[in-house]
Amino acid sequence: MTNKKIIAVVGSTGSQGGGLVHAILDDPNGGFAPRAITRDPHKDKAKALAAKGAEVVQANLDDVESLKKVFAGAYAVYGVTNFWEHFSAEKEKAQAKNIADAAKAAGVKHVIWSTLEDTRKLMKPDDTRMPILQGKYRVPHFDGKADANAFFTGLPVTYLVTSFYWDNLFLFGLAPKKGTDGVYSWTFPMGNAKLAGMAAEDIGKTAYGIFKAGNQYIGKTVGIVSQHLTIAEMGEKLTKGLGIGPVTYHAVDANIYRSLGFPGADEMGNMFQVYRDFEQEVLRARSVETTRSLNPQLQNFDQWLAKNKSRVPV
Ligand SMILES: NC(=O)c1ccc[n+]([C@@H]2O[C@H](COP(=O)([O-])OP(=O)(O)OC[C@H]3O[C@@H](n4cnc5c(N)ncnc54)[C@H](OP(=O)(O)O)[C@@H]3O)[C@@H](O)[C@H]2O)c1
Repeated sequence: MTNKKIIAVVGSTGSQGGGLVHAILDDPNGGFAPRAITRDPHKDKAKALAAKGAEVVQANLDDVESLKKVFAGAYAVYGVTNFWEHFSAEKEKAQAKNIADAAKAAGVKHVIWSTLEDTRKLMKPDDTRMPILQGKYRVPHFDGKADANAFFTGLPVTYLVTSFYWDNLFLFGLAPKKGTDGVYSWTFPMGNAKLAGMAAEDIGKTAYGIFKAGNQYIGKTVGIVSQHLTIAEMGEKLTKGLGIGPVTYHAVDANIYRSLGFPGADEMGNMFQVYRDFEQEVLRARSVETTRSLNPQLQNFDQWLAKNKSRVPV
């Protein structure tokens, strides 16, 4: 039996939760122990966490009773939902409600809810610059998470507003592609706007800083980011860091991006358009200084690239 404070981590086999579990295990004298939640404790990523010393438990976000069991006795909960598994804001909200309800039942002392901003507030309802998706959202995976904030009312909660992962270059296939002419190129509807980005693993490390800070961030919204870079700046860094030829950036119209036909193209098109059209609002909602104070090892793009270059498929 550990006398450490247990942090129950949803999404422990994924980017955000995985970063947190590793951050806790990498700080054996920090006073915390991770309880890694997965639907399948037998999968390789779960077994790797157990081998490193994590308690690994089984639960499903669709089953509130299973969450109550694994949150019982925990000091804190890290809550994240995975929109990209099902592409449904309503399902994401139902899962978030289960996290909040189970955290209430378990009486935990701190919850971090991994959320995003409500992009509907940036535009009037009759603004036609981008389509309404899933009946009532501009960017469903943002707006659904923002709607879900309300479920956490009454809990000792920190609302963590995250940023675009640079890891999307390999996780989401967003790396520049080499054409038959040997020229690298990529396409985004981002114009010259800066993208608020960070290494995915730094989300968990920063969340750990929030838990370690005790009550300081309870009831607060914390927007985290490492570096604001334009797509052209990211391309230049990839050219240098990967030793590839110059990357041509096609700054297309958002309507063209939305019509590219891959799963989630409309969703991603709306998201990048929000980053472009509301650049200042998105950047203002996130603070590099706060993030660095919570996570002094915060990586910038070049450091992240040096560590992950073999994973970027170019
Ligand atoms: N990509 C980005 O740039 C970015 C930026 C900001 C926010 N986000 C948000 O991040 C979220 C995804 O987080 P991530 O990137 O850390 O995910 P991820 O790496 O894709 O992993 C998903 C995690 O969620 C767990 N999970 C999914 N469905 C579950 C369920 N029904 N019950 C229990 N666990 C479940 C999985 O656990 P098992 O499979 O082991 O059960 C896994 O650990 C998305 O909602 C996205 O909107 C992404």
